[in-house]
Amino acid sequence: MIILLTGADRGLGFGTAKRLLTLGHTVYAGQYLTGWNELDDLKKEFPKTLFPIPLDISDSDSVSEAAALVSRQTRVLDLIINNAGIAGRNIPRTGEPPEPVADAPVPERPDEGMHQDFDMMMRVYNTNALGAIRVVEAFLPLLKNSPVKRLCFVSSEAGSVERAQRTEMFGYCMSKSALNMYVKILHNRLHPLGYGFRLYHPGWVISYMRGIKSEQGELEIDDAGRLAADFYLSDEVDERTLRLTDYKGEIWPF
Ligand SMILES: NC(=O)c1ccc[n+]([C@@H]2O[C@H](COP(=O)([O-])OP(=O)(O)OC[C@H]3O[C@@H](n4cnc5c(N)ncnc54)[C@H](OP(=O)(O)O)[C@@H]3O)[C@@H](O)[C@H]2O)c1
Repeated sequence: MIILLTGADRGLGFGTAKRLLTLGHTVYAGQYLTGWNELDDLKKEFPKTLFPIPLDISDSDSVSEAAALVSRQTRVLDLIINNAGIAGRNIPRTGEPPEPVADAPVPERPDEGMHQDFDMMMRVYNTNALGAIRVVEAFLPLLKNSPVKRLCFVSSEAGSVERAQRTEMFGYCMSKSALNMYVKILHNRLHPLGYGFRLYHPGWVISYMRGIKSEQGELEIDDAGRLAADFYLSDEVDERTLRLTDYKGEIWPF
């Protein structure tokens, strides 16, 4: 299959790219970071099937340019995987990692930690929610030419309103709920036309979401990437109903 994957430089996206390439698929891999060469090293292993492309999903011009670049190389994409995302914490790229999200305490005062960084929240929304929309709109013409026509999205348990337990990370959680709603509306619209959907929570991945490699998590990048790729490739899904599914196959309520 021919696949577009966003945020493939490192973390879950990089693990997903490795798995897809190992299985023999062709990957157009969104490259966002400069000075991070894991994807270029992987290209040496898969010179004929890995095509890194510059892609910043928070920027409409970057997404259009990436779509034009890919269109010059292929007239069809079978899968689009919207993986890129940011947590939106002001975390330096070096230094001690912050406390894990799951341990965030209930504040002693109701206004404690309530003063939001609105610029950061808008960056998170622009990337996690609007970024996926930009990518879908720009690359849909290539997906239309495929018999598979599958749109995949990395969401999160953090987007589930029903199971929300956090006492912080407003911007990130809200951005993933918004992404879920976008995918639901898109499913209503495109499922009748033969498009497939995968909405995924990858688990707690030891990735770079905090700017540095996290020291805690349940899944190493290679394992997380394998599970994610296999879910996107699987045909064992009831396409009629959109489900937020995690790496264990559990369905999460919206
Ligand atoms: N890690 C977890 O436990 C976890 C849990 C649930 C869901 N997720 C989701 O999984 C996805 C992948 O996250 P990850 O954990 O693998 O984090 P990651 O290690 O930070 O990987 C995300 C990749 O996307 C890149 N990126 C950031 N902004 C981008 C933009 N505007 N355009 C294109 N690429 C961009 C990142 O670059 P930078 O490194 O420079 O930011 C990075 O290479 C995200 O959607 C995240 O919300 C992660």
